[in-house]
Parts: sequence; structure tokens; C-alpha cells
Amino acid sequence: MPLPDGIKVRQARRGDRDSIYRLLGELGIAIAVSEQSSALSWIVSHPEIEVLLAVDPLDRGVGLVALAHRPTLEVGGRAAYIDSLVVTEPMRRRGIGSELLERALARARMLGCKQVELCASLGTARDYLGRRGFKSTGLERMVWTNSGTR
Ligand SMILES: CC(C)(COP(=O)(O)OP(=O)(O)OC[C@H]1O[C@@H](n2cnc3c(N)ncnc32)[C@H](O)[C@@H]1OP(=O)(O)O)[C@@H](O)C(=O)NCCC(=O)NCCS
Repeated sequence: MPLPDGIKVRQARRGDRDSIYRLLGELGIAIAVSEQSSALSWIVSHPEIEVLLAVDPLDRGVGLVALAHRPTLEVGGRAAYIDSLVVTEPMRRRGIGSELLERALARARMLGCKQVELCASLGTARDYLGRRGFKSTGLERMVWTNSGTR
């Protein structure tokens, strides 16, 4: 499905800070304003994460996907993790999310990743991903937070 008129997908840059953190806000993710610039500068130049941004004709972010990838013992090779996939609410159901996901999967194929993992807790997102070839692992994600970095 083609992207809606005027929407294009490009690599995210440092200057996209406001768009990126607004989109993450729609996922309920809040990063302290004082940390946003340095975190984004590090991430957009890091070799093991790629951030793609869908932008409107005014270059405002309307959708985002981030693909982090690294070697792992468990899959016996490189594995990727999509840690954010979001399209701003008014722009949903126009094919932008599918395009972002397809670009991320194409990149994972190019990098030789053996699998791509994504945390989908919402029922609707699970159905959406199931229709795009993702299978549930039955494993629950557990997280340890380093209080020294907070
Ligand atoms: C999940 C999410 C990223 C999908 O983004 P999106 O841009 O709405 O996705 P798409 O438009 O590509 O597809 C959504 C549905 O709209 C349908 N659709 C796409 N274009 C359409 C159009 N022009 N007219 C009507 N329906 C359309 C698609 O068929 C798809 O339905 P399907 O799953 O039955 O195939 C978005 O809903 C979102 O940000 N959700 C909140 C965050 C979230 O849950 N993230 C977890 C990631 S799974």
C-alpha cells in the first residue's frame, strides 16, 4: 500500500527531538526533558540501533519505528528488537505503520538478523502483528531497572 500523499520515511536526526518524544508520549513513554537531547544524539549515531521517522510535508514526525540489533547466544547470531512502533493517532489506518514495520524488517533482513522481537501487550497490536507474521512466544518480558541511572 503506498504511503499517503506528502508522507515520507527517513532516518531520524538529532533535530527530530520534539517529534520523537511527542510520538513516544503517545506510547506512554516519558523521558526527562533534560536527558532527551543527549540520549537522542547518542542513539542516532549508534551502530546498533536505527530510528526511522515518517514525516509530513512540514517535516513533522507522524510515525516512528526503532530497530535495535545485536549478536545473541540464544539465537546463534544477530537478533533485532523493535523497541518503538507508533503512528500518531490522527494518521493511523493509512498504511504508515505497515510501511515503517516493513522497512524495519527489510533492514533486519539486510543485517542478517535471525529474528525480530517486539513487545506487544495490547490485544489490538497483537492482532495487527499476527497478521504480519509475528508469533507469540508465550514468554513474559521482565525488566530490571538500574536505579543508579535514574
Ligand atoms: C500499531 C500502529 C503502529 C499501526 O499503525 P497504522 O499506521 O495505523 O497501521 P496501518 O495503517 O499500516 O494498518 C492498520 C490497519 O489499517 C488498515 N488500513 C491501512 N490503510 C488503510 C486505509 N487507507 N483505509 C482503511 N484501512 C486501512 C490496515 O489494513 C490495517 O489493518 P489490518 O491490521 O487489519 O491489516 C498504530 O495503531 C499505533 O501507533 N498504535 C499505538 C501504538 C502501539 O500499539 N504500538 C505497538 C506496536 S504493534
